[in-house]
Amino acid sequence: MSERLRSESEEDLARLRRMLRKVTSDDAETVRRRLAKRDEVRALDIACGECREAEVLTDFLSELKGEESGEIKLTGIDVRAREIADAQRRFGGRKEIEGTSATKECEFLTGDASKLDGHSELGDDFDLVFMRHQNYWNGAKTWEEIYDQALSKLGEDGRLIITSYFDKEHQLALEAVQRLGGELIKTEFNPETRALPTEGKSVDRHVAIFQKKR
Ligand SMILES: C[S@@+](CC[C@H](N)C(=O)[O-])C[C@H]1O[C@@H](n2cnc3c(N)ncnc32)[C@H](O)[C@@H]1O
Repeated sequence: MSERLRSESEEDLARLRRMLRKVTSDDAETVRRRLAKRDEVRALDIACGECREAEVLTDFLSELKGEESGEIKLTGIDVRAREIADAQRRFGGRKEIEGTSATKECEFLTGDASKLDGHSELGDDFDLVFMRHQNYWNGAKTWEEIYDQALSKLGEDGRLIITSYFDKEHQLALEAVQRLGGELIKTEFNPETRALPTEGKSVDRHVAIFQKKR
């Protein structure tokens, strides 16, 4: 990756971190209460590609958990084996979270996220299910299956967070997730979003957070 791309990606991740804080701000207490009870906090990153956001997600959960010990575990899944191998090489394995005795562990699987229930080893009861740049426009039926599976992996008071590149695609995803049993807590436009060459497309342009409808 060139120096320019690396620096853009790091700036995107810093903005994503701010957006995660922003969308969780209204009900952070509920999330903190859930995380405080968990020895192992679990996150699932669906359609993660090379999962550049792995450290942002584990650090964000560690910050919300706010304890000196415990484990944050992130599992990423994508159909593209090459990206998953890159993610595993870069972020896979267990590390200590700096300045604490807490640990973070990342693992990556190649697989079809519309068939997550075929991955029984994943279990369910996730604290966070995340989808960066969900791709509803690239096959609505598949993505509705993916959203459905994502919701089924959420524990009680777990949260689903999605980000989108485009306004219309985000709107369609919001509608689909709500139809499938998600309750929208908040959706935010990212005021710092970085424009991409395609008109109307930008990085983490919108970020939304859901819980399962009760
Ligand atoms: C727009 S890209 C986003 C990738 C990454 N999350 C990011 O933000 O850079 C959409 C991703 O969805 C993945 N994808 C598409 N269909 C999938 C499926 N059925 N199961 C798992 N991943 C899928 C693609 O391989 C691709 O990595």
